Amino acid sequence: MTDAADMMTNLAEQMISIDLAPEEIDIFQPGVAEMALFSPMAPKVRANPWPIYHALREQDPIHFSPFGTCLLTRYEDAVSVLRDKRFSVEHRNYAEDRQGTMMGDTFGPAPSERDLSNVMLFIDPPRHTRLRTLVNKAFTPRVVERLRTRVEEIVDELLDRAEGTGSMDVISDFAYPLPVQVICEMLGVPAEDQDRIRVWSRKIAPILDPIVTAEAQAGIEEAADYLDTYWDELIETRRKDLRDDLLSELIRAEDEGHRLDHAELRSTCNLVLIAGHETTMNLIGNGLLALLRNPSEKDKLRERPELARSAVEELLRFDSPVHLTARSASEPLEVGGVEFERGQLAVIAIGGVNRDPSQFPDPDRLDIERDPNHHIAFSAGAHFCVGAQLARLEAQIAFPKLLQRFPSIELAVEQPEYRETITLRGLQELPVAF
Ligand code: HEM
Repeated sequence: MTDAADMMTNLAEQMISIDLAPEEIDIFQPGVAEMALFSPMAPKVRANPWPIYHALREQDPIHFSPFGTCLLTRYEDAVSVLRDKRFSVEHRNYAEDRQGTMMGDTFGPAPSERDLSNVMLFIDPPRHTRLRTLVNKAFTPRVVERLRTRVEEIVDELLDRAEGTGSMDVISDFAYPLPVQVICEMLGVPAEDQDRIRVWSRKIAPILDPIVTAEAQAGIEEAADYLDTYWDELIETRRKDLRDDLLSELIRAEDEGHRLDHAELRSTCNLVLIAGHETTMNLIGNGLLALLRNPSEKDKLRERPELARSAVEELLRFDSPVHLTARSASEPLEVGGVEFERGQLAVIAIGGVNRDPSQFPDPDRLDIERDPNHHIAFSAGAHFCVGAQLARLEAQIAFPKLLQRFPSIELAVEQPEYRETITLRGLQELPVAF
């Protein structure tokens, strides 16, 4: 047998030893087999990853894969890693780590080679603190609350457009245009560029994944080059005509010289633009699918819109739009009674952690009144989502309005498909009739 075939056999044995049915997991699907344990890449796993997370949590909650990564599915372990300053996010910035930890050299697909060293998600303090402080000001609860009326207007406009048609694809007709319009207006990106942005953000989304196929890698390269040029041009134009938007604010910081360099400015614009809409789009899509599959919860939210706040937290928990994240140990340490060597990569299965029964009783039940609900859909610790308040505002407005406008809304297909991205979990399309 070849090394790769050996590896597959070991992996299959390991899966069986933790009571996972190989046929459920599609482990021999070419090119993605190595991710089967912790990747929802196989269509069946993507559609329903929860039994795998439950099995792992019960039988092997700190799971070391044969490829060196470690997958965490317990709430307590995940939160302790995310809050522990001895864990770093910078592993994605080092090519040798990308290759070594993610076995791309053995099997072909590897995480994106694209330089992420100026993206705040992959930078540790103190540089992280400087970048985050600049952006954070635009997303405080007080600033975000001022957007309420505008978000309501956009939601109403989108629903007006759909009304009378009797059907729509919730993703392209509602879940995408809402957050992209909001974030473009905040950043100062021209409205007419939104359609192009959708094409490029779809292509660049796998950049966050632990492995990518060659085809996805080509898409990432193309989109990243395009976006670099796009930002260079827009920054040049805006520099001559500074306004009251986040882009102008960041350009002012760059002009002051010491606060932001050009590469950081471009990366920050990209991050805010992409993080500001891909994730919220997935919250609306995944969340509506969960409601449609739980009609009593859907009807409850329609009848009692004052539940929007707790409902959105529950939808974030139930099918988390960011499915995993990772940290590496910057020194030898211990997690949940297990020794970690320096450099050990810990992958946190955010989606699985949010179904841990020790923290969320009856975790597979959708309960829009769940309280307490301390999910980690927005992460925890230093990298806690900057845009959490904005995402919450948009979703708290979007769900009740959508359900009230279309009380008879129902799924138009049996099983909507999830996109192929691993880190960002969201639906390809969500056809509904009303
Ligand atoms: C439902 C919607 C959203 C979800 C589920 C989400 C989730 C997350 C998560 C899990 C992280 C941290 C990842 C980690 O710890 O490794 C994060 C970071 C971030 N998010 Fe969000 N996000 C959402 C919406 C937004 C929005 C609307 C913005 C708008 C700008 C945004 C901007 C950011 C930024 C800039 C970071 C980096 C923070 C840092 O590294 O310090 N996100 N988000």
